[in-house]
Amino acid sequence: MIRLEKLTWDNYDDVLKLKVAKEQKEYMVPNSECLIQAFFAMTESKAQVFPFGIYFGKKPVGFMMIARDVPWIEEYCGSHAKYYYIWKFMIDERYQGNGYGKEAMLQALNLIRTFPAGEAEYCWLSYEPENTAAKKLYASLGFVEKPELYENLGEMPAVLKL
Ligand SMILES: CC(C)(COP(=O)(O)OP(=O)(O)OC[C@H]1O[C@@H](n2cnc3c(N)ncnc32)[C@H](O)[C@@H]1OP(=O)(O)O)[C@@H](O)C(=O)NCCC(=O)NCCS
Repeated sequence: MIRLEKLTWDNYDDVLKLKVAKEQKEYMVPNSECLIQAFFAMTESKAQVFPFGIYFGKKPVGFMMIARDVPWIEEYCGSHAKYYYIWKFMIDERYQGNGYGKEAMLQALNLIRTFPAGEAEYCWLSYEPENTAAKKLYASLGFVEKPELYENLGEMPAVLKL
């Protein structure tokens, strides 16, 4: 029942209403700000950014942004291989703990493995080390932490071989 839907003019405001819990705000800027960051990543660098709404049936429950060629992965993680980057990811506080996050991540990885913006070897993401929910979820999907790169990035990077 969970599906990723590309954000367009017609549905982008669905995700603007979604929020994380108060104690999770340090992990994620508001979704509106994520879209502004996407604009600058695309206009000021060669990044490609693909924002998605996460829907349970017709109900918007979360937001995700997949990116490619974001300069900081090359700069801070030293990755010169081709990669996708799960840049932003949230499930609204009202809908957390129902398995939606895991299902959305599985679908995102399936999508990435179709290489919609060109082939790649790796998928990167990063998170605050104390973000237990994110850390456990990503580890369960096979992401491997790279603590040696933590200081460079200021967040814990983790990588999955596609
Ligand atoms: C991280 C997040 C997306 C998980 O979404 P979710 O829909 O609640 O997650 P799920 O219900 O699919 O749970 C998947 C796994 O995550 C882990 N998890 C989820 N909530 C957890 C919690 N409160 N404590 C510990 N582990 C948790 C568990 O391993 C769980 O698997 P299990 O149920 O088999 O143990 C959600 O907590 C969120 O939006 N957090 C705020 C924003 C954020 O931190 N985004 C990530 C930034 S990198």
